[in-house]
Amino acid sequence: MTVTRRAFLASVCAAGLAAGLPRPIRAQPEGSVLQMPPLLDATSSGAFDLVAQDAETAFIGRTASATWGFNNQTFLGPTLRLAANRAVAASVTNHLTEPFALHWHGLLVPGYADGGPHMPIEPKKKWSIELDINQPPATIWYHSHTHLHTANHVQKGLAGVIQLSDGRDDERGLPTEYGIDDLTLVIQDRRFDRRGKMVYDPGMHDEMMGFTGDVILVNGQVGAKAVVPRGIVRLRLLNGSNARVYDLASRAGRLLHLVATDAGFLDRPTTIEVLRLAPGERAEVLIDFTDGTNDVLVSGPNPNVGMMGGGMMGGGMMGRTQKAGFDILPIEVGSTHATRIERLPESLDGVMPDLVALGAFRRDITLDMGMGGMMRRRDKRHSINGQSFDMDKLNFSVQRGVTEIWTIEGQMMAHPLHIHGVVFQVLSENGGPVSPRNRGWKDTVLVDGRVEIAVQFDQPASADKPFMFHCHILEHEDGGMMGQFAVV
Ligand code: C2O
Ligand code: CU
Ligand code: CU
Repeated sequence: MTVTRRAFLASVCAAGLAAGLPRPIRAQPEGSVLQMPPLLDATSSGAFDLVAQDAETAFIGRTASATWGFNNQTFLGPTLRLAANRAVAASVTNHLTEPFALHWHGLLVPGYADGGPHMPIEPKKKWSIELDINQPPATIWYHSHTHLHTANHVQKGLAGVIQLSDGRDDERGLPTEYGIDDLTLVIQDRRFDRRGKMVYDPGMHDEMMGFTGDVILVNGQVGAKAVVPRGIVRLRLLNGSNARVYDLASRAGRLLHLVATDAGFLDRPTTIEVLRLAPGERAEVLIDFTDGTNDVLVSGPNPNVGMMGGGMMGGGMMGRTQKAGFDILPIEVGSTHATRIERLPESLDGVMPDLVALGAFRRDITLDMGMGGMMRRRDKRHSINGQSFDMDKLNFSVQRGVTEIWTIEGQMMAHPLHIHGVVFQVLSENGGPVSPRNRGWKDTVLVDGRVEIAVQFDQPASADKPFMFHCHILEHEDGGMMGQFAVV
């Protein structure tokens, strides 16, 4: 252990000198207890700073992988806790050697503050922006949204969770002790080479179907287990993967009590057995551990292998996660922390969406990935309504304050559609009723066939700092399955 650390430090110092910057380092002890990202609570200060830097992380064994993180985290960034109803002075500093843009996914702020691809932060530069937050409490996130490089940046670690809080979760009867009975779980899948080095080497198949890996990271950790008190435990789940869709469940058969979707609380907990979570989506669930027995959070195989099937092009590179269910996180019930909450709340104060969209403008959105895409340029492989993303072309303008109905169709496979600067209500899925996980307010929805949504456009966005709408399979996004709109 000591030897490993010293060896790491030596190589890190050499690299750090070369780059002129310190490179933090973290080695992952095996079978360890899951760590939360550090909590950066800005609810009273009203200000936070994020600094992105180069680092190395040993995910498996002693092999270090080149990674990126924020605020001296070697991979990912701190969990930001922000007041749901007050302005916060944010700054993002770039200590990397390439530009990146940082988007607040789920934050309802104007286009100029949204951190999309039109707002890159150059190396050594600092972006200071006032975020005037006024929305219901929710678990949202931040991640790189850099033109053509989002997939690579996010897999390298440029992401983190944001908790929008109104300080009233104790009144709601919800677990609130960060990392104890209120766990933040960033779920991602990665590929590693034989030596344990993380690799991102998307081939044609990955650019078509999205990049999936066969090793699961939770908060950037491989093989860690969570230890929870005997009682009700809250999991704030973020699918921060580039492309993998999870079907989350308890191995012991415990029910998942869904209390919040992307944009905030439901009116009451909804019980589900399997929670499908697509890239970009968040969900908060409560699980009852009062009987004291251990469990494992598991996932079914990726349901999103498309019409071509899972095996056709994959060859040997698909791991076991493609074929069978797999473990996400072992959960052990410990006695270090006293039970705090033993009963599920009967109701929550979330307001369920009920948009009246009579006479609303209707827009048809097709997420296309034609087979001819393989022949095209890397950034023109995918498209929306036949047009690949073009930074210089506004796709449409919406009048501020209106509600529109979008009918979204996904080709070939399921696509998680995300829209910036808005929240929406799912009205129907394939002409039928909305599944329980999609009944709350959403900003990202898995389109598996055809989905109809009602979208409320309240935040302004100018034509030169527009909002994006795109598939959250990041290889699709970088591949052109994205558009942009103004709200005026
Ligand atoms: Cu989470 Cu446009 O992204
Ligand atoms: Cu977003
Ligand atoms: Cu897609």
